[in-house]
Amino acid sequence: MRPAWISLSQNTQILYLIFCLCHYTQAITIQVARNTITAPVQGSALFSVDITCTGTPEIRWMFYSVSEQQSIATWMLGGAANVTQMYERRVETHPNGSLTISDLCLQDSGYYTITVTETSGNSKDTHVVLSVTEVLYEDIQYIAVSVIVLGALAVFLMLCTWLLNKLYNFIKAWRQRRCLPEHTETELQPL
Ligand SMILES: *[C@@H]1O[C@H](CO)[C@@H](O)[C@H](O)[C@H]1NC(C)=O
Ligand SMILES: *[C@@H]1O[C@H](CO)[C@@H](O)[C@H](O)[C@H]1NC(C)=O
Repeated sequence: MRPAWISLSQNTQILYLIFCLCHYTQAITIQVARNTITAPVQGSALFSVDITCTGTPEIRWMFYSVSEQQSIATWMLGGAANVTQMYERRVETHPNGSLTISDLCLQDSGYYTITVTETSGNSKDTHVVLSVTEVLYEDIQYIAVSVIVLGALAVFLMLCTWLLNKLYNFIKAWRQRRCLPEHTETELQPL
């Protein structure tokens, strides 16, 4: 009796182990392409995720910063997304659970959290850090190019004025020489 009871117990343990392993392999996984994203002001950021789980999960993207906490979008994977009103114009949700935010501003810097919830209630979350940067470098470049273009334009206009002035003087002199007969020139000399 006793050995049989032990082997039964061992079998139960093995079964339990197999159950645990199956459960483990069925767990939700969220792989993010990049944990930190840097994007310029007015640019866009793609929060790319690869989700594996059982059934059709619910996806929820949230934004956290020092001053606020805001839900961005919620949807059943493959279904239509419910996007929060303040993000409606600039958020695009993708069938694979990824999210794109465009027209970024400095206030968009912070933590973006994705929560994947299976119908059974299991859930998992992962976060991505977004830092939005000002486009100072491009500003400086833009100003430098403007200055060079305006400078070149000024030099060109000055050159044109100088040439026109020369041309005008030349034509005036030439016309004077043609209009005045040679003898009058000598007559006028005493004046
Ligand atoms: C998810 O879909 C978007 C849009 O189609 C794509 O850009 C992105 O690379 C995808 N991400 C993964 C991890 O497949
Ligand atoms: C979308 O989300 C808002 C707020 O989270 C909720 O009040 C509304 O019922 C949702 N709409 C749908 C169609 O799920």
